[in-house]
Amino acid sequence: MSLCEDEKKLAANEALKYIKDGMIVGIGTGSTVDYFIEGLGKRVASGLRVKGVSSSLKSSDLARKHGIEILDDFQGMMDIDVDGADQVDEKGNLIKGGGGALLREKIVAYNSRNVCIIVDSKKMAGNDFGSFPLPVEVTPYFASGTVRHIEKLGAECTLRQNGSFVTDNNNLIADCKFGRIKDPETLHSKIREIPGVVEVGLFIGMANEIIVGSGKQARVIKIK
Ligand code: A5P
Repeated sequence: MSLCEDEKKLAANEALKYIKDGMIVGIGTGSTVDYFIEGLGKRVASGLRVKGVSSSLKSSDLARKHGIEILDDFQGMMDIDVDGADQVDEKGNLIKGGGGALLREKIVAYNSRNVCIIVDSKKMAGNDFGSFPLPVEVTPYFASGTVRHIEKLGAECTLRQNGSFVTDNNNLIADCKFGRIKDPETLHSKIREIPGVVEVGLFIGMANEIIVGSGKQARVIKIK
């Protein structure tokens, strides 16, 4: 296994320590979360009782395969949300949506008491926050027009897979290269104002802690 995969697994295993009997667990999406699902499945098999709310069809399938009950409809606050990220800045703001699940991921995070982000060390962007193209979910209707408006904010955008990548919500993803993002709050508001934008892959002030797999250990960064 590569160092990066080891780090993802370390972070996922650390997050498993936060999961207690009886919890409702928000389950994110991505390769790091897949390790978490695998580990949670093992704990469920040895008697842990939890229910999951998943942020993607892919994670739901994997969780069910590992014997984790996934609720299709849950209205209330989840005890914890465990999710990955594509980049993390020094304040714990996130770029998400590399897997295209950002809308449901944001809904799950918003409805969770504790948002725990698990990443490998390469995701800690520092001054490079924004070097990962920002995913923005847009309606298929007028998508090219919507993308043109995002570009006016200073980005170069492409519709993922030439517009053939369709999200679980039947929308498209625009991957937007802004370069370094110094003021994520303002950028987030400006993009959100554009009609046709469904959600932005900037998660500002949402994470409670970042668990970083770093070398041979997991480091917990408490944000709030
Ligand atoms: C899914 O849409 C994303 O937000 C993922 O959480 C993010 O891309 C992290 O994925 P990996 O764990 O595969 O790097």
